[in-house]
Formats: sequence, structure tokens, C-alpha cells
Amino acid sequence: MKTTLMISKWIALSLVMTFAACGGEAPLDGAALVVEKGCVACHGEKGGAIAPIYPNLNGQYETYLRLQLVAYKSGKRVNAVMNGMAASLSDEEITALAAHYGK
Ligand code: HEC
Repeated sequence: MKTTLMISKWIALSLVMTFAACGGEAPLDGAALVVEKGCVACHGEKGGAIAPIYPNLNGQYETYLRLQLVAYKSGKRVNAVMNGMAASLSDEEITALAAHYGK
């Protein structure tokens, strides 16, 4: 009985540890990220712009979007709004955002 209890505790602990380890390496969820980072305010949830003054991102190639975000972040492409939006994005976030909006 005692052994069974110890074994189940050990299994529970290893499950928790496995989930914790996976959590750090799981790919970022692009759909959640566009809400968290505020992209939806202008580009919508799926990349259809909310107003004509904002570009549609849906239909663009993933690689194109990723390179634009990298260029905004580095300042190579200049736009007051997007330079600010891209400044705080990590490489992993840029990849996930481009994958979410792009094709
Ligand atoms: C306040 C409105 C606003 C928000 C919020 C915003 N953007 Fe933009 N975005 C723009 C505007 C305006 C442009 C066009 C800028 C230009 O002319 O370079 C643009 C351009 C882009 C482009 C380049 C599109 C192209 O066709 O070259 C990408 C990619 C992009 N945004 C991604 C994002 C992502 C990802 C987020 C969230 C992290 C975001 N934007 C948040 C307004 C916004």
C-alpha cells in the first residue's frame, strides 16, 4: 500500500516536471500572441485590417511578413507605429506572428 502511494506520488511528480519542461519549449501560439501584443487592434485577428489605412496581412507570404517585422525592429524599414510595435518582439515572437498571419 505504502509502495503504491509512493509510486503514484513519483508518477505525479514526474508528470508535473515533464509539463514544466515542455512549457518552456512549446512553440508560441500565434493566435494568442496577436491579442496579447495588440496587433488585432489594427490588423484584426486573422490579418484582415480593421480599416483601410492599415495593411491586410492575410494572403501575404509568411517569409515576407517575418522579414518586414525584422526590418521594423532594426529600423531598416521606417514607420512610427510599426517600429514601436516591433521593438519589443523577440525572434521567436516574430516567427510565430508571421506564421499566424502569413501563408
Ligand atoms: C496602431 C495600429 C497597428 C498596430 C497595433 C500594429 N500594426 Fe502593423 N502596421 C500598421 C501600419 C499603419 C502599417 C503600415 C506601415 C508602413 O507603411 O510601413 C503596418 C504594417 C505592418 C506589416 C507590414 C505589412 C506589409 O504589407 O508590408 C506587418 C508585417 C505588421 N504590420 C505586423 C504587425 C504585428 C505582428 C503587430 C503586432 C505586434 C502589428 N503589426 C501591430 C499598423 C499597426
